[in-house]
Amino acid sequence: MADRGIQLGETAALGDVLSLDRIQSRIVLGLLLGGSFAGVWLAHWGSPPLSRVLWWAVVIANGTLVGGLYWRVVLFDASRFDDTNTARWVQNRWRRLETVSVWSFALCAAAGLSLAPSGIGTAALGAGAVVSPVLWVGIRRGGVDGAGSARRTAYVRAALLTSTLVALGGFAWLETGTSIVDWAVRFGHVGSFALWIGGALWHNSLIIPVLRSSVAADALKQQADRFRRHLPAVILLFFVTGTYQTMGVIDLSLAAFLGSAVGRLIGVKLLVLLVLTGLVLANLVQAASTRRGRS
Ligand code: HEM
Repeated sequence: MADRGIQLGETAALGDVLSLDRIQSRIVLGLLLGGSFAGVWLAHWGSPPLSRVLWWAVVIANGTLVGGLYWRVVLFDASRFDDTNTARWVQNRWRRLETVSVWSFALCAAAGLSLAPSGIGTAALGAGAVVSPVLWVGIRRGGVDGAGSARRTAYVRAALLTSTLVALGGFAWLETGTSIVDWAVRFGHVGSFALWIGGALWHNSLIIPVLRSSVAADALKQQADRFRRHLPAVILLFFVTGTYQTMGVIDLSLAAFLGSAVGRLIGVKLLVLLVLTGLVLANLVQAASTRRGRS
C-alpha cells in the first residue's frame, strides 16, 4: 500500500486522531450492544435469561448483516478509490465479515425460531435464515468482485440485503404481533439499530484499519461521511419509536421512570442515546470544521 509521506509531527498527530477514532468506534459499538441488550431484556420481561440472550443474539446477527450489507451495497463504490489495492483489500475483508455474519445469523435465527410460535413473523425470519446462506453461495460463486460477474454479484448481494430485511421484519412482528402500527414502530426501532451497528462494524473492522495503514483512503472517508449524515435521522427515529414503545409499557411520568425497574431500564437506554447523540454531534462539528479548514 502506497505511503503518503507524512511529516513526523503530522504522523504523531494523525496517530492520536486515529487512536481517538478507534476508541470512539469501540465505545459506539459497546453502547449499541448495551442499548439493544436492555431493549431485548425489556421486550422479553419475565422470560428465562437464556432465551433473552438468544433473542439478543438474533437481533445483533440480523442487525449487523442488514447494516453491513447496506454499507456494502449502497455506500461502497470501488470505482472511487485512487488505489485499487485498497479497494480490493476492503472488498476481500468485507467478504470475510459477510461470511461470518451470514452464518451467525442463520444459526442464531434457527436457534431462536425453535422457541418461537408459528406465524407470519416466524415464517419471514425463517425464510431469511434459509435464503441468506443460499445467496451467500451465489456471491462466493460470483468470484472476486471486479471480475466480469461483478454486476451479477451486485444483484445477488442486493437480494441478500432484501432477504435479511424481510427477516428483520419477521423479527419485529414476532416481538410485537399486535397491530401494523406496533410492527412498523418496532421495525423502525430495530432498523435504526441495524443501520448503526452495521456502520460500527465497518468503522471498527474496515475504515480504521485502512486509515491506520496511512494509505490514500479518501474514498472510504467519503463513505464514512455519507454514513454519518444518516445518523441525525437514525437518532430521531430511535427516540420517536422508543417513546411510542415506552408508552406501551409505562406512562411517561418521572415517577414511572424512577419508580419501576422497567422505567429505570428505559432511562438507561435514553442515556445511551444521549451519549451517542453527543458523539455524533462532536463528529459532525469536527467534520464541518475540517471542511472549512480545507476550503
Ligand atoms: C441507541 C439506543 C437504543 C438501542 C440500540 C435500542 C435497541 C432496542 C432493541 C434491539 C430492542 C428490542 C426489540 C425486541 O426485542 O423486540 C428495543 C426495545 C425497546 N426499546 Fe430501544 N433502543 C435504543 C433506545 C431506546 C430509547 C431512547 C427508548 C425510549 C425512549 C427505547 C425504548 C425501548 C422499549 C420500550 C423497548 C421494548 C419494547 C417492548 O417492551 O416490547 N429504546 N430497543
